[in-house]
Amino acid sequence: MKKKLIIILILILFIPIPFHLKDGGTVEYKALVYQISRVHKINTNAKSGYDTGIIIKILGIKVFDNVKESKKMNNNILNANYQNIDFNIEKKQVTLNSGYVMPLNGLGTYSLTGDTCYEAVASALASGVRLIDTAYMYGNEEEIGKAIRDSGIPREEIFVITKIYPTQYDKPEEAIELALKKLDIGYIDMMLLHHPGNLDIEAYKVMEKYVEKGDIHSLGLSNWYVEELKEFLPQVNIKPALVQNEIHPYYQENEIIPYIQNLDIVVQGWYPFGGRGHTSELLNDDEIVKIASNHNVSSAQVILRWNLQKGVVVIPGSSNPEHIKENTDIYDFQLTKEEMERINALDRGEKHDWY
Ligand SMILES: NC(=O)c1ccc[n+]([C@@H]2O[C@H](COP(=O)([O-])OP(=O)(O)OC[C@H]3O[C@@H](n4cnc5c(N)ncnc54)[C@H](OP(=O)(O)O)[C@@H]3O)[C@@H](O)[C@H]2O)c1
Repeated sequence: MKKKLIIILILILFIPIPFHLKDGGTVEYKALVYQISRVHKINTNAKSGYDTGIIIKILGIKVFDNVKESKKMNNNILNANYQNIDFNIEKKQVTLNSGYVMPLNGLGTYSLTGDTCYEAVASALASGVRLIDTAYMYGNEEEIGKAIRDSGIPREEIFVITKIYPTQYDKPEEAIELALKKLDIGYIDMMLLHHPGNLDIEAYKVMEKYVEKGDIHSLGLSNWYVEELKEFLPQVNIKPALVQNEIHPYYQENEIIPYIQNLDIVVQGWYPFGGRGHTSELLNDDEIVKIASNHNVSSAQVILRWNLQKGVVVIPGSSNPEHIKENTDIYDFQLTKEEMERINALDRGEKHDWY
């Protein structure tokens, strides 16, 4: 027993442990234990689980209490870099750093307006979608609010993200009040700054006040990358809970995603299918089509699942009820490590929009 413990302690010195050992929550401890047990092939069952627990104690951190749960949970986050965030594919939800729970898949509503938007949101809600992404710029907050109210679904079961635009940053109160009024659903689950811009810090600080009042639950950013985050984060009081950026197989942000996740900020991808005008090429990509046929699913479903397995929340846009339904069916199959790598290899650094 002693000999085994010494060997394990020596080995542990050589593990690159991407965790902060002195603070953090249960997910962190479980992830650490899982990593140790995986690297050293310790069976995380009764007795050896106890040994692993001792290591954790020696390191001065909490002993995990449920090894089975730990393995299960971390099968979900193996491809992500969250430290204290429970990105849980089995539960189809993520607990944000603000404490609120958000679904892992939603409906994007860019370019959907009027009745088309209303019908798309109604159809999504009927298909079980509970996350809707909109923005002042999309000009559809009123239709989205109406579809939500008409659905009869309890408000607290639906998560709505909206964004204020840089042209509004000089009058943030007005912008927030306008969003609250147009949506007319009581509170806003999450508000993002749509882009970096003049007075973005000031606008964000006003959003923080609305969080204190309870009119907005969580805050986030859109189109923020590493340099922008480094500058922004030290200047605000409430850490953003989410960053929404362009992510698809041809533009993967493989350096940026882990950077953001390491901050315990959830990453959400826009243009999952490349955006309108590019979807055909991406959905017909040979590699993706082959992987889809292995699993008897569509290319769209493979792309969405690839995102989830990287710890990225998806908000595909669609006005087609069949597509909307299809885009929710992404939890009953799993891409292998090799398939994930084949999709990772498709990255071309090819941005499909300017921001
Ligand atoms: N923060 C930002 O700056 C930013 C920028 C752009 C977008 N966004 C957000 O991200 C969301 C997603 O982007 P997007 O909607 O522009 O582009 P997208 O999701 O990449 O692609 C939408 C296109 O894919 C098609 N589609 C959807 N599901 C499909 C399926 N299962 N099979 C085949 N085709 C399918 C849609 O056509 P059908 O209607 O026929 O299904 C539509 O033409 C936006 O709606 C918006 O909420 C944010």
